[in-house]
Amino acid sequence: MPPVLQARALHLSYGPAAAVAGVDLSVDPGEVVGVVGASGSGKTTLLHCLSGLLLADSGSVLFRDRPLESMTVRQRDELRRSHFGFVFQFGDLVPELTLLENVSLPVRLQGARAGEARRRAAEQLEALGIGQLGRRTVGEVSGGELQRAAIARALVHRPDVVFADEPTGALDDHNSEVVFGLLLEQAREHGTAVVLVTHDRHLAARTDRTVVLAAGRVVEAA
Ligand SMILES: Nc1ncnc2c1ncn2[C@@H]1O[C@H](COP(=O)(O)OP(=O)(O)OP(=O)(O)O)[C@@H](O)[C@H]1O
Ligand SMILES: [Mg+2]
Repeated sequence: MPPVLQARALHLSYGPAAAVAGVDLSVDPGEVVGVVGASGSGKTTLLHCLSGLLLADSGSVLFRDRPLESMTVRQRDELRRSHFGFVFQFGDLVPELTLLENVSLPVRLQGARAGEARRRAAEQLEALGIGQLGRRTVGEVSGGELQRAAIARALVHRPDVVFADEPTGALDDHNSEVVFGLLLEQAREHGTAVVLVTHDRHLAARTDRTVVLAAGRVVEAA
């Protein structure tokens, strides 16, 4: 199968300083790629470039065979909504909404009716073991539960690629294991590619492939 995502000679600078300094990367469907490196090495910036949240200064990012940089803003938004899922370190669910409402959002954004979106959200919460918490708001659940809900939101619309930026950074060992396991399972069962930024070398060692960044470059890939 052809790669789902490819980066070619990516460069992005903030002022004179390069945050991403010539990265080539290719991700296959169902592949779990770990991205590690010291603080400031460019992990988050790379993730933002790969997902089209940021446009690189030069180089190319291809989703299947479509270059993100030649899409319109609307086309990129649509690509992110339909084909990508995101999990961030401290979650970023909408605090005023219940978990069920939060997880319904990506399905709603794809044009599904409210009832259908709620049904799929409920199923996804159930699959992640927090089906009973759908009616609670963000402030009424634990950190681990919240992060599971963030994973539910990233997966509910069956994306082709999930971008996870330290999704276990705020979690204890048990919950880290749960969250990492859920991402692996998604890759295995649904062929979802996962690009996982982590500080945790033990987790990184269990991905299919690890890319080590230093000063915006890939210094080691295994
Ligand atoms: N908006 C910004 N403006 C200017 N410089 C930035 C900006 N965002 C990041 N940088 C710089 O770009 C470099 C890469 O940052 P990035 O956030 O990608 O690192 P990181 O590897 O994700 O680090 P961490 O592990 O701490 O999250 C750093 O030197 C950082 O200071
Ligand atoms: Mg970061």
